[in-house]
Amino acid sequence: MSLTRYYTATSLDGFIADPDATLDWLLTRDQDHGGVLNYGDFIAGVGAIAMGATTYRWVIDHEFSGKDPSEWTWPYDVPSWVFTRTAPPVVPGAPITFTADDVAAVHARMTQAAGGRDLWVVGGGDLAGQFADAGLLDEVIVYIAPLTLGAGAPLMPRRIELRLEELGRNREFACARYAVVRPAG
Ligand SMILES: NC(=O)c1ccc[n+]([C@@H]2O[C@H](COP(=O)([O-])OP(=O)(O)OC[C@H]3O[C@@H](n4cnc5c(N)ncnc54)[C@H](OP(=O)(O)O)[C@@H]3O)[C@@H](O)[C@H]2O)c1
Repeated sequence: MSLTRYYTATSLDGFIADPDATLDWLLTRDQDHGGVLNYGDFIAGVGAIAMGATTYRWVIDHEFSGKDPSEWTWPYDVPSWVFTRTAPPVVPGAPITFTADDVAAVHARMTQAAGGRDLWVVGGGDLAGQFADAGLLDEVIVYIAPLTLGAGAPLMPRRIELRLEELGRNREFACARYAVVRPAG
């Protein structure tokens, strides 16, 4: 059965981006790419992804900086949904669907597209929270960077109950995998 997983990196005080929407504080950190809860093993099990428009624009700015749109290559080969009510730039030929539909309806399409593999909610935190609100988020996996940011984009602007399933260290990061505990009944 496929799981819906929010896999992200965060500051110790629960921000996934700083107030300038940069990730410099994260991308410079040392990690073992074969270590605990590593991205390579994670993404190998993913069959569809979802992200919000801010995250999508960050990917475009970060991955395609200085390149002509005709040279843009979407970094994910699985079907991808971008939640937006505006009109972000299009990555030519990428398997991306822009949507403002209800998360439950999109989740059903993602599940079908994923063919038994997992769904990755890339972020941001509120979008992951919307999946949790709909009872559709199974796991939260965090790489906790050794700093506080004080402000920025929140990891999860919700109260949700979690159960610690896995815990480890990957060089500079504390890494944890939690199951989402759904209310009884
Ligand atoms: N640390 C990490 O590993 C990590 C991971 C992911 C992201 N990030 C960063 O974290 C930040 C997250 O930004 P964010 O908090 O603004 O979240 P976001 O989810 O990336 O973007 C929010 C936007 O998504 C759209 N959206 C969200 N829910 C929607 C819905 N139900 N229907 C239609 N559109 C919806 C809206 O876009 P429109 O305004 O276009 O309508 C909204 O303004 C970014 O800077 C990103 O780069 C960090």
